[in-house]
Amino acid sequence: MEIKEPILKLRQRREEAMLGGGEKRIAEQHEKGKLTARERIELLVDKDSFEEFDLFVDHRCTNFGMDKYRHPSDGVVTGSATINERLVYIFAQDFTIFGGSLSITNAEKICKIMDMAIKNGCPLIGLNDSGGARIQEGVDALAGYAEIFWRNVMASGVIPQISAILGPCAGGAVYSPAITDFVIMDKANSYMFVTGPKVVKTVLNETVTTEDLGGAMVHASKSGVAHFVSNSEEEAMLIIKKLLSYLPSNNMEDPPFIPTSDPINRSCDVLNELVPENSNKPYDMLDLIHQIVDDGEFLQTARNYAQNIIVGFARMNGHPVGIVANQPKVLAGVLDIDASIKGARFVRFCDAFNVPLIVLEDVPGFLPGTSQEHNGIIRNGAKLLYAFAEATVPKITLIVRKAYGGAYCVMNSRHMRADIVYAWPSAEIAVMGPKGAVEVIFRKEAMATDDPKQVLRDKEAEYIEKFANPFAAAERGYIDDIIEPARTRFRLIRALEMLANKKDSIPARKHGNIPL
Ligand code: HXC
Repeated sequence: MEIKEPILKLRQRREEAMLGGGEKRIAEQHEKGKLTARERIELLVDKDSFEEFDLFVDHRCTNFGMDKYRHPSDGVVTGSATINERLVYIFAQDFTIFGGSLSITNAEKICKIMDMAIKNGCPLIGLNDSGGARIQEGVDALAGYAEIFWRNVMASGVIPQISAILGPCAGGAVYSPAITDFVIMDKANSYMFVTGPKVVKTVLNETVTTEDLGGAMVHASKSGVAHFVSNSEEEAMLIIKKLLSYLPSNNMEDPPFIPTSDPINRSCDVLNELVPENSNKPYDMLDLIHQIVDDGEFLQTARNYAQNIIVGFARMNGHPVGIVANQPKVLAGVLDIDASIKGARFVRFCDAFNVPLIVLEDVPGFLPGTSQEHNGIIRNGAKLLYAFAEATVPKITLIVRKAYGGAYCVMNSRHMRADIVYAWPSAEIAVMGPKGAVEVIFRKEAMATDDPKQVLRDKEAEYIEKFANPFAAAERGYIDDIIEPARTRFRLIRALEMLANKKDSIPARKHGNIPL
């Protein structure tokens, strides 16, 4: 049968448009070790599930001879698809067209799918690879960015937003990914900065490479902007898929249940030996986490940043949970500014998206020192406190070892409205560690004796007897039970079951005033 002219024309226009900036530009993209926007989407989504919008949209700019350059799709591929059969909305910037730069039409395309994602309650995924605002468009491009930022904020806490940075992301453009919930940066080609190395040289006379200023490892370990680093674009897509498997599609849904064959009452005997007898000796909190969660699977986010606190997702009897744990292996698990911020943001994410929280506590307190005080440990430590206090999802705390001072209160204590608090027999719950405590309260008394050291040692032993155990807290009902470590998985799953129908709310208000 003869194919009619309009259909032939459509096919031809579509074929041309699908080539983006053309074969030469695609080859250049590949030479840089990067995939094209369409190849990225194909890698990410279920086969043949992508429905593209606005393929024929083109820019309307006439400045600087721009009208001579026509490129349907205008530097961004947008649409919806399914990932493991769940609907998502996606935009992928196409570097082969004007360096993926953002024009007003390009921004309108992105905004359209953002609006659809919000209305339909689906995750939004942005694959970023762009030279920033389309310079030839001036304020129109800036308007486009601001429209995107506004939608990022409106979508925050309503639908999960995930950004992968797979190329340049510079200038004000960084603020869209920064507002999203999770940022994945590819090691090879991505960078993010507000002002690049050239401006840094001009303004500050500092010489710095792109990589050292805003590469993936810098943002994963120093700034905390990146939650994941991928070693390839394929890996970046796998991380997005894995992350989504723990998240509901929107704030009105529960996170997805995935049945497990891992027995609920699996005994974790090695945990009975995990905590060293000497309470100043470290151990690896990840060993505890891997023992108790379904199939030992734990998706740690921001693993290279503030390593004294661990945050991430796992499943307990098939149900996703968010885990927040002090890491005694790094800085003895102390809370500092970075750890507090990292923990607070994760807690708020879980609370927004109905992911129950499990807190594994071994914290000697807040980090002392001028650097911490001058940089605002008061203001920043308060963020973690605030986040736990306002969270209404099921909240469970297990005190593994130390729960000292203000950090005891902050780390989801009973008094911060933890629903269930358990402790291991190794728990030590006190205002401060034994040595420091006896120095404060008995130093004068000891100095008045012939053997001050012996007196202090005796007092320390008395203090340990009194406080370096969970019984004083259990006697007061501040903890609900002291559990055997090997039974931790079973007891935590039971605790989650007890809280499965939890309904709680905080006083109505426009919004709180978290100490930012
Ligand atoms: C228009 C752009 C562009 C832009 C790149 N191109 N960025 N066109 N506006 N912002 C075009 C280039 O002219 C080139 O076209 C093509 O894209 C590929 O760019 P190359 O420079 O050849 O690629 P590469 O060598 O890989 O370098 C990539 C780059 C560089 C580092 C991103 O292009 C660059 O520095 N671009 C400008 C970045 C920038 O300053 N953007 C504005 C930031 S301020 P031809 O046809 O010549 O091949 C900003 C404010 C946002 O974004 C504010 C939001 C609130």
